[in-house]
Amino acid sequence: MTRVLVTGAAGFIGSHLVEALSRQGDEIIGIDNFDPFYPRAMKERNLAEMGRLAGFTFHELDLLDAARLQSHLTPDTVLIHLAAKAGVRPSLADPVGYARANVAGTAAVADAARGAGVSRILFGSSSSVYGDSTPVPFREDAIAIEPVSPYAATKRAGELLLGSVAPIYGFRVASLRLFTVYGPRQRPDLAIHAFARKMVDGSTLTLFGDGTQARDYTYCDDIVAGVLAALRWTEQAPVGLEHFNLGGNRVVPTGAMVDEIATALGITPKIEWAPMQPGDVQRTAADLTKSGALLGYAPRTPFPEGIRRFVAWFREAYGRSD
Ligand SMILES: NC(=O)c1ccc[n+]([C@@H]2O[C@H](COP(=O)([O-])OP(=O)(O)OC[C@H]3O[C@@H](n4cnc5c(N)ncnc54)[C@H](O)[C@@H]3O)[C@@H](O)[C@H]2O)c1
Repeated sequence: MTRVLVTGAAGFIGSHLVEALSRQGDEIIGIDNFDPFYPRAMKERNLAEMGRLAGFTFHELDLLDAARLQSHLTPDTVLIHLAAKAGVRPSLADPVGYARANVAGTAAVADAARGAGVSRILFGSSSSVYGDSTPVPFREDAIAIEPVSPYAATKRAGELLLGSVAPIYGFRVASLRLFTVYGPRQRPDLAIHAFARKMVDGSTLTLFGDGTQARDYTYCDDIVAGVLAALRWTEQAPVGLEHFNLGGNRVVPTGAMVDEIATALGITPKIEWAPMQPGDVQRTAADLTKSGALLGYAPRTPFPEGIRRFVAWFREAYGRSD
């Protein structure tokens, strides 16, 4: 049994991860501040869907309260840091809020970990750190110094911060660069969820770009499998920080993504096209050579199957005419 503290436990990915950790018999401490980026009710629904889980305790707590955070840590705790203000476009309107939660918040996590003598840390980073200038497929050894949104810059800053202190504080850090995650409980701001809602409402979908924009979509269960593999990896890892891509191993253009949701919902959507938005990248694609070799990571969920599972949850959670 491992003792694990998960930040962002009430969120989309955090809630799935907590369930998986509970299934494997770990002791889990979840923390979350119910950041108002999207409604608290949705995060409470995530916690309710999880039900009463063996070994799980939850605390409403802000990352920036490093002293309280530290009080939940012991030297043998593995710290999985997923809490953040997520979302690319909203970060353009709130760079200070993003820097506070994602950069100062990650510094607080590092400080609490140091104070408690924690050495194993997993960090939820993002494919957005690669920006638009990294050749595809993205490799972890790309220098990634041209993020194109405040969100991406704060994620890269979080990686750099943890990497800078890892050798000094004795941290063994897996920095996990997640590629557009989808599935049940997906955040409402993300395209698949937002488009599904518009389709059932009968409103027009605005697709940005010229149709060539594409994303490496990753099903939440595959991400969770990657996080669990990274958790095991930190047991033997040397002091320092390593980056790992966690992607879906397939690139889906925007139009094909919409078609898949429409098919699963049985709806013909109304679509309009608009110019690409500031902060958006053209294409994401993960090179999975390193995460496959070191973590044994191999995503398994085909995109149509993942969308069917998302739509099944969406119908259950919201109903068709909500
Ligand atoms: N969903 C994706 O496609 C995706 C892709 C790349 C990276 N990520 C990263 O994965 C992580 C989880 O993403 P998600 O999609 O589950 O987002 P989410 O918003 O559903 O979950 C993040 C949680 O962190 C909490 N939080 C925010 N600020 C906090 C603070 N100061 N103190 C305590 N809790 C705080 C929020 O309330 C939220 O519940 C984030 O770090 C995100 O940047 C997500």
